[in-house]
Amino acid sequence: MTIFSLTEAELRQRRSLKWRTYDPDVLPLWVAEMDSAMLPAVRQSLDAALDHSDTGYPVGNDYIDAYRDSAATRWGLELAPGQLRRGGDVMNAVLCVLETVTDPDDGIVITSPVYPPFWQVTSGYRRRTVPVALTEQGRLDLDALAEAFAAPDVTAFLLCSPHNPTGTVHTAAELSAVAELCAAHGVQLVVDEIHAWLVDPGTEFVPTLSVPEAQQAVVVTSAGKSWNLAAFKAGLFIGGTEAGRVLNGLPPLATQSTGHLGSIAHSTALRHGQDWVDQARAEIAENKRLLTDLLHALVPGARYRAEPGTYLAWVDCTELGLDEPYAHFLASGRVAFSPGRNFSPAHQQWVRINLAASPAMITQAVERMAASLRKTA
Ligand SMILES: Cc1ncc(COP(=O)(O)O)c(C=O)c1O
Repeated sequence: MTIFSLTEAELRQRRSLKWRTYDPDVLPLWVAEMDSAMLPAVRQSLDAALDHSDTGYPVGNDYIDAYRDSAATRWGLELAPGQLRRGGDVMNAVLCVLETVTDPDDGIVITSPVYPPFWQVTSGYRRRTVPVALTEQGRLDLDALAEAFAAPDVTAFLLCSPHNPTGTVHTAAELSAVAELCAAHGVQLVVDEIHAWLVDPGTEFVPTLSVPEAQQAVVVTSAGKSWNLAAFKAGLFIGGTEAGRVLNGLPPLATQSTGHLGSIAHSTALRHGQDWVDQARAEIAENKRLLTDLLHALVPGARYRAEPGTYLAWVDCTELGLDEPYAHFLASGRVAFSPGRNFSPAHQQWVRINLAASPAMITQAVERMAASLRKTA
């Protein structure tokens, strides 16, 4: 079985954002959708629901229990049912938590470069975004975080774990240190773990709530990224053992907006998709090696350090001497990446490349990069 083996012709039948934003001659390796065929068990459970026109509201705790079982098996993380609530999707869950734990005009820390909606969910909702740069190696800068947390109006820290776009997988020691800093400064730790399952084989993902010092944290997650289920909106709020006050303080509708088909799809993926995600991780790790080799051979000025988290590659194109690499590759190479400036104003020279694609597509993308550079030379 190969997960990323759909042909380009098959993928171009899709009507999703990734495949319908650009002209048909553009190869899209941008937004975080996977070029995978659906996990058969998910397909069967959705088919069964549709066969019965079962398109009402969700009931019960199936999604919550599926996550609890999967977290216990995969990471040894034992959660009580009362620590979880269902949400609409991950970014709406983040918004609900931030609105619960902060007041208008409060500062919310994010670590840049970061997934663009992290900027939107802070500054777009009458809060102040306080960006703290990751280190050159893409790690959390604990001194800089401590300095930011010390400001009296900073009341929350929104962390991405594993980190999108760098692929950094935070260690237990880093998470513990961050949690202690948050506690010392009265800052609420909110962690988006939507990429949790997607770490390269041999790397261990550390769930925030497995860290004893982080029990005041609230985690938001879903099966959306790892099993490519963004179309089926569903998310989870998970509170540490000392975060009950935050969970209980969520606005009532926050925990009532899961879609029924979303709940079915995500629960099925968590229950029956562990082998599938392991296969996806192995293929993604291969794709990271492929990208490394291809860039080295064809676009040596592009700097890429493969990190073990996510299927996203964060590539520094500064040495290529382009005004804006994203725009150049789109216009001259007919290949779409995500523009670095969306992740931080300081990263205009970077692009994010989506590696949840076939090796053939990745090869073609780098060949297009190289050809576009020859045109400008
Ligand atoms: C870090 C992160 N959080 C959240 C999301 C989106 O999740 P949802 O569609 O459930 O809001 C993404 C999608 O790429 C993501 O990378």
